[in-house]
Amino acid sequence: MDRYAISKSPCQFVENFSLFGMPIWIKRDDLLHPFVSGNKYRKLKFPLLALEEEYKKTDRLPLVITMGGIWSNHLHATAYATAKLSFPSCGLVRGHTAMQSLTLADCRAQGMLIQFADRINYRALRENPWHWQTMVDPGLIKQHPDQYWLPEGGSDPAALHGVAEIIGELIDELKFIPDAIVVACGTGATLAGLLAGLKGCSRVIGIAVLKNADYLHGEIARLLQQAGYPAYQNYQLLTNFHHGGYGKVSPELSQFCREFSEQSVVPIEQVYSGKVFFALRKLIQSGYFQSHERCVVIHTGGIQGARGNKIPLKTPE
Ligand SMILES: Cc1ncc(COP(=O)(O)O)c(C=O)c1O
Repeated sequence: MDRYAISKSPCQFVENFSLFGMPIWIKRDDLLHPFVSGNKYRKLKFPLLALEEEYKKTDRLPLVITMGGIWSNHLHATAYATAKLSFPSCGLVRGHTAMQSLTLADCRAQGMLIQFADRINYRALRENPWHWQTMVDPGLIKQHPDQYWLPEGGSDPAALHGVAEIIGELIDELKFIPDAIVVACGTGATLAGLLAGLKGCSRVIGIAVLKNADYLHGEIARLLQQAGYPAYQNYQLLTNFHHGGYGKVSPELSQFCREFSEQSVVPIEQVYSGKVFFALRKLIQSGYFQSHERCVVIHTGGIQGARGNKIPLKTPE
């Protein structure tokens, strides 16, 4: 994937941001690529490179099948990345055929075939990934006898290797290992990848963006194990910053995102980065960090998804 994206993102030092009252660094993975942004670039890199390697000496192409919501950053990134590799793709989308979004329009423009899954089938896909076999159009399967399933959010164990690369980049750029790394947590794969890169050093603070997220401890452990890493424990999962649940926005969060957008050139949205920066401010205000601690926030991108909400956003620099 490096051939169509910058492969490193800048780490910006923000010394005097009045919303925080403490200097922070922001790893701007949102700048990695306009379509394959943020942690999507990191998470798709190794699974898709492996697939490219596997198929390069054959005359076949795998049908890449995955799942997501109508504003899914993962579907958006996968549609673009698979199209670049000439792989056909199919997105199983939570909802019904009347639903539309700019994200889905972009996915279709890249050639991704969109099929809708109702709540029951979507839940079944989460619980049993093989369920896609009962859902994807049999004509499509016949046309593409090789299929490759990418889990929701691109959270394949191999995704961790790409996320782990963030740590080497950070150390190269900063010349020190940050004391704390703050990141959004949806499936837990990005957090697990950071742990893999840190190899037991420092600590990661995961901000769960969904409700009742304690089960993510198990997911993080599973992903680390399946990707061949030790069961690193140097992290904290904070489960009280979901603002009502996945995609939900409290008035406080909305106000915070507005202030942030007025005071900063860094674009944020309300589903992931807004919740992370909100949590960071609360943590700083409550004395969670010691004054000497150097804290890096990973901006995991996802700005395209904000086209579905009403917060005015800054255009990425
Ligand atoms: C922009 C953005 N940030 C963070 C996350 C959460 O990452 P993970 O699912 O790896 O925990 C996602 C979803 O994958 C996302 O789209």
